[in-house]
Amino acid sequence: MKHLISLHHLKIEDIENILNLSEKLKKQQKEGTSHQILSGKTLGMIFSKSSTRTRVSFETGMYQLGGYPLFLSSSDIQLGRGESIYDTAQVLSRYIDGIMIRTFKHSDVEELAKYGSIPVINGLTDLMHPCQILADLFTIYEYKKTLKGLKLAYVGDGNNIANSLLHGCAKTGMDVYIASPKDYQCDEKIVSEAKEDAKVSGSKVVLTDDPVEAVANADVVYTDTWISMGQESEKNERIKIFMPYQINANLFSKAKEDAIFLHCLPAYRGYEVTEDIIDGPNSVIFDEAENRLHVQKAIMALLMDNKK
Ligand code: CP
Ligand code: NVA
Repeated sequence: MKHLISLHHLKIEDIENILNLSEKLKKQQKEGTSHQILSGKTLGMIFSKSSTRTRVSFETGMYQLGGYPLFLSSSDIQLGRGESIYDTAQVLSRYIDGIMIRTFKHSDVEELAKYGSIPVINGLTDLMHPCQILADLFTIYEYKKTLKGLKLAYVGDGNNIANSLLHGCAKTGMDVYIASPKDYQCDEKIVSEAKEDAKVSGSKVVLTDDPVEAVANADVVYTDTWISMGQESEKNERIKIFMPYQINANLFSKAKEDAIFLHCLPAYRGYEVTEDIIDGPNSVIFDEAENRLHVQKAIMALLMDNKK
């Protein structure tokens, strides 16, 4: 594993290594045991979109690992004024040890990895959000003690979260059902990649426009905002189209009794999910958010610790 750009590129062993190391680092952090395995290393963090969780968890995580996190807002660096990805990748590779990038075009992240000589971590693109889904898999594992054979239902927009869930579930042997309105389904190429992986792991990949079909008997119920970053002008239209896809008590009651509710956050209560569900007893959203820290520390350690 040289970069973390798409979960489709990872082997199942890579995912297992990340989850195992996440568990170890979480324990060490809770016990107060020092784990400064990246001392002397610098992570550049390029942000072209807003963030609370990704920024704070990477920044704090790098600090806890003994390294230095460098926040680079795209509006402050020359990339935002039109400097090429090629030159940016070449120059940053001479200064720092890894790059995390959150941006719009997925191909920009791939180019950064192609032209630089240091590990690149995808901190969200319009197409994918692999770090989030690794934290989700870790959270599911903590609650359910397994991944293989579980059913995950995602109801809502076929966006970056849904795309990476397809990859993550198919790799790890979870059945994944995505319910979205007809014109808002997941990326076709990602669906076919997930189907390929599902053949290997023995899981199911189902795309539907029926939320009840998706949620029926699910172990995990997941949703995300209907209006992703960059889609603000479509807000009114999207709210009308997505209302039948709201996770509320009626829809959630179709899942297993011990189903957990996940949301990558930020959430908009009363839209994609009602308050009684997101703040109810089955919701594990803040464990999920916390796990971003532990899982991303594992990712950074595996990519950037060349002593291992
Ligand atoms: N879930 C997530 O990536 O949150 P932020 O946008 O706050 O980073
Ligand atoms: N789909 C959302 C995820 C935010 C973490 C977005 O792209 O805005």
